[in-house]
Amino acid sequence: MRISRSSICVLTLFVFCVATPVSNAAELDWNSVPYLGKATPTSQSVSWVSKAGGSGYVKYDRNPDDFKEIVYADANGSIFHAELTGLRANTKYYYVCESDGYKSEVHSFTTWRTDGPVSFVAMGDTRSQRDRHEQVVEVIRSFAPYDFVINSGDMVSRGSDPAGWKDFFEITAPVISEAPYFMVAGNHEGDADLYWDLIDMPKGEDSERYYSFDRSNAHFVVIDSNDTWPLNAAQREWMKRDIESHVEADWKFVSFHHPPFGTNPGRRMGGLQMRLVLHRWMRDLGVDMVINGHDHHYVHALADGVHYILTGGGGAPLYELGEPDRYTVTQARVYHACKIEIDGLVLKMKAIDIDGNEIDSLTIDKSEGAGEAAPGESNNEDFALPAPREDKAARKFIGPEAR
Ligand SMILES: [Fe+2]
Repeated sequence: MRISRSSICVLTLFVFCVATPVSNAAELDWNSVPYLGKATPTSQSVSWVSKAGGSGYVKYDRNPDDFKEIVYADANGSIFHAELTGLRANTKYYYVCESDGYKSEVHSFTTWRTDGPVSFVAMGDTRSQRDRHEQVVEVIRSFAPYDFVINSGDMVSRGSDPAGWKDFFEITAPVISEAPYFMVAGNHEGDADLYWDLIDMPKGEDSERYYSFDRSNAHFVVIDSNDTWPLNAAQREWMKRDIESHVEADWKFVSFHHPPFGTNPGRRMGGLQMRLVLHRWMRDLGVDMVINGHDHHYVHALADGVHYILTGGGGAPLYELGEPDRYTVTQARVYHACKIEIDGLVLKMKAIDIDGNEIDSLTIDKSEGAGEAAPGESNNEDFALPAPREDKAARKFIGPEAR
């Protein structure tokens, strides 16, 4: 709801008069910085946590000295979500969040372009070690400018623990207050109500568990790999329909937490199950890149032309690397983040560790005359399995266990 300043007094009175308590409201005893979620070229969601609760709003404008626009937030106890709409594409906006006893600093974001180059940052498993996560945030900042960040899951150690989220927002403040930050549910978030209350992601059908968005000539899909092996039928069918309805996109990305092509020896069986079930969907749907986490290191694999980027070095204690298999392109046991840039039909990716070293790079050129890219190893017989069973016994998620 976007309104003019002249309506503020009336609406403020209205909000205070009609506000009713929200059942099961999230009551938290700390304040967060404002954090950005779902976005389009003409809209941006802004959220924050305030221990005082109450009601709140976001004031914003292109001029940082004169906020002429205001949008009221939906409040759920201590958690506020507002959506700024009707924005100009590719434009810098300044904003401040206010609620009972809370007033943020002035922050800014730039709305997405409707076309042109795309750039984003990917990393995951940011939980557990504050100092390492802070170093990874510095890597992300070194990537500026970028359109958004995607965290491939396990943002915090326990999704239901408010203290972990307090730390998370403190650490990510320089990034998450200035650029849309898309989250993928890891096993450490899973079914934690607090996680789902805190985030403001797009909705695929009616659920933030799986969703998609577009940025220029690229289509991005997020699915919830916690949602029973091998993904419940509704989610899988939605993914298929969603990607098939975006065949015009030059680039297609899918992100989910559990990696089909990791090398962690303790998770080989779980990874193989993910691989057997999900890879053929990625291959047959023409997905260019899959972004995963869960294993705390970096693995780049290539199968049937689909690049699998396991970026789990966001802060959690590093895992040992396993033996590479025939799909492994490279792997590294380092804290790191990845930047992906798209310019028309050319994609470039680099992975940079916290010491500034480039641990991997990749170029995909789909332009005419660029030549055929190496498809990577393929063994279609491996993936030519019968359709996944739908009976209850077969849906138990096996392997990628919580740690
Ligand atoms: Fe995980």
